[in-house]
Amino acid sequence: MATIREVPSKVRRFERIGAHTHVKGLGLDKDLNAVKVKDGLVGQEKAREAAGLVVQMIKEGKLSGKTIILAGPPGTGKTALAVAVSRELGPNVPFIQMSGSEVYSSERKKTEVLLGAIRKCIGVEIHEMRKVYEGELKAIDIKTTAHPYNPYQKVPESIRLTLKTEKEEKTIEAGASIAQQIMQENISEGSVIQIDAETGRVVDLGLSLESAKGKSYDVDTRRKIPRPPGKVMKEKEFVYTLTLADMDEINARRRLGGGIFSMFMGGSETKEIDTEVRTAVDESVKKLVDEGKAFIHPGVLFIDDSHLLDLEAFSFLGRAIESELVPIIILATNRGVTTIRGTDVRSPMGFPLDLIDRSVIIATHEYDPESIGEILRIRSEEEKVDLEKKALKKLTEVGAKSSLRYSVQILSLAAQNARTMKHKKVSAADVERVDSLFMDIGEAAEHLRKYEEKMMMH
Ligand SMILES: Nc1ncnc2c1ncn2[C@@H]1O[C@H](COP(=O)(O)OP(=O)(O)OP(=O)(O)O)[C@@H](O)[C@H]1O
Ligand SMILES: [Mg+2]
Repeated sequence: MATIREVPSKVRRFERIGAHTHVKGLGLDKDLNAVKVKDGLVGQEKAREAAGLVVQMIKEGKLSGKTIILAGPPGTGKTALAVAVSRELGPNVPFIQMSGSEVYSSERKKTEVLLGAIRKCIGVEIHEMRKVYEGELKAIDIKTTAHPYNPYQKVPESIRLTLKTEKEEKTIEAGASIAQQIMQENISEGSVIQIDAETGRVVDLGLSLESAKGKSYDVDTRRKIPRPPGKVMKEKEFVYTLTLADMDEINARRRLGGGIFSMFMGGSETKEIDTEVRTAVDESVKKLVDEGKAFIHPGVLFIDDSHLLDLEAFSFLGRAIESELVPIIILATNRGVTTIRGTDVRSPMGFPLDLIDRSVIIATHEYDPESIGEILRIRSEEEKVDLEKKALKKLTEVGAKSSLRYSVQILSLAAQNARTMKHKKVSAADVERVDSLFMDIGEAAEHLRKYEEKMMMH
């Protein structure tokens, strides 16, 4: 099946060494207990074990429609934990990461952004039985005729193909469109091909191992495959995974005209999708599921900094959670008791109480110096920075005094300093120099206070 390929729906961003590239998983043992340092994660054991249970339930498809809140002070690994969850789930479970601020788009309504994201997180695995002709091409005979507008040009009129499997040899005749595809794709004797009986789509699967070319040509770049077993005409099962958002898109475009191909060939971009389209997609998916032809894989929608959502967005989410086709929603926030955006109501984390009530909360805590040191060591490996022991000690002190984030920044800057000074390894002096050149948040606040009157206010 050379041309049928799953398109992963996860958004992949180009990353060199991002803030979380060192995170490879949750670092749990087989009983889901956290190992202090594993898979790039350090400490924060309770949160990691809780996340482990969540991952297990997601994998078993038991958690759809649930909300999980990651709550804790800044820099305590909430985003890192969510990244670890996505790594654990693997590439086949849709995992969409967005920031609370992304709902404020000037082109789309807040609810539309959220609904779009929710639908990207639901995978639909569709199984379809299709009748196909399949076999090694033994003989081709193309009949041509004069072009209707240009008598000097020949165009294919029909084709006669002999296909061979392990079991039989059959000759079939087909019309111009199949002949054209065979000519365009340069398909010749010896190829194993598959023709969809209904649509007439031709797929070149590769070169048959048993064919004369397959045996003799060493330098044929095509994939070599065995001659298909069974009969030439057979029913085959095709499996593809789409997300509800993909299906919405395809349907919306189909309504506009142009069919599925306009998706690949460009064409008008649909900014908002009609409710009608979505309802139709939901109906057809439900029908397929009832008939046993499709399976739903609820993924994860991770909304980072979700205190940036406002009441309208929260109430929409609350309602969406209760519908049938929903993913698992993970919200992360570093806010304490604060006002819910768009209101003057104060509430824990700035979330509406009814949403909190329907969620489970995973708390993250500040790190002890030992864990900070370990995280810094892992980061230095990730960034390929050679640290002297004393430099790591100094960095750990900086981290414990100000914040983990600040010390991670200082690590990169100290490495740059060492390179400039042509030091082989990063020394404590490099760390101290950089620490004295830059301000952490405490020092910045102090600085501002000192010059309060002299700083511009507008
Ligand atoms: N337990 C950990 N093990 C390894 N690295 C960690 C751990 N916790 C945090 N980090 C790393 O420290 C940095 C800060 O953590 P992170 O961004 O996850 O914090 P956060 O809780 O999301 O903070 P904020 O509330 O500001 O968004 C990141 O580079 C992250 O990968
Ligand atoms: Mg974060």
